[in-house]
Amino acid sequence: MRTVTLSSGMVLRPYRLEDAPALFAAVDTDRERLLRWMPWVPHSTTVETFVEFITAARRQEDDGVAFHRGLFDGTTVAGSCGATVDLVNRAAEIGYWLGGAYEGRGVITEAVGLMLGFLFDDYAVHRVVIRAAVENVRSRAVAQRYRFTEEGILREALILDEVPTDAVISSLLEDEWRSRPRGQ
Ligand SMILES: CC(C)(COP(=O)(O)OP(=O)(O)OC[C@H]1O[C@@H](n2cnc3c(N)ncnc32)[C@H](O)[C@@H]1OP(=O)(O)O)[C@@H](O)C(=O)NCCC(=O)NCCS
Repeated sequence: MRTVTLSSGMVLRPYRLEDAPALFAAVDTDRERLLRWMPWVPHSTTVETFVEFITAARRQEDDGVAFHRGLFDGTTVAGSCGATVDLVNRAAEIGYWLGGAYEGRGVITEAVGLMLGFLFDDYAVHRVVIRAAVENVRSRAVAQRYRFTEEGILREALILDEVPTDAVISSLLEDEWRSRPRGQ
């Protein structure tokens, strides 16, 4: 997936190793808010953990099994949007987050739309899922904007701030993406 400038002027691009301090700063600034919804946050407490993440992300991208993108507002990391791919089943899972200062502007919805276009149109994926804590209304709203179908509850599938938490799994299929309403 190429580097893209969003309508807000922010840039969606692959991480570089030198982004690790900015990525750490974005997560650390918002740690209390983010750890409510994402299991990896308590395990990512140093710049080094983000160096390891970016190193792994680059290797996974070379193998075609993950596409992680940072959302950059200048040199500041505003958020992230990524996909992991199960090549055998042509299935992908999308994940995302934003710094609190960037919420409510449609940034992630636009980034997810670009990721869906890449996965379905360029990468021949058949199915994309999003898993979100049942109470994560904002994340579920992103999936709903693209008409994902909520399939059910994954019991205690996420450990959020040490609490096993139920997740909703939502999916979008290739033909549903192709028949989406104009403008999406
Ligand atoms: C999940 C998360 C990324 C959603 O962020 P968000 O700001 O709600 O999503 P968007 O950036 O797409 O913005 C949507 C909002 O912008 C508004 N908006 C403005 N312009 C818009 C546009 N062109 N398109 C879509 N929405 C737009 C929408 O109305 C919506 O506002 P509302 O919530 O008041 O209705 C964010 O809440 C977050 O980072 N949460 C913590 C981490 C997390 O939960 N990650 C997901 C784990 S599953």
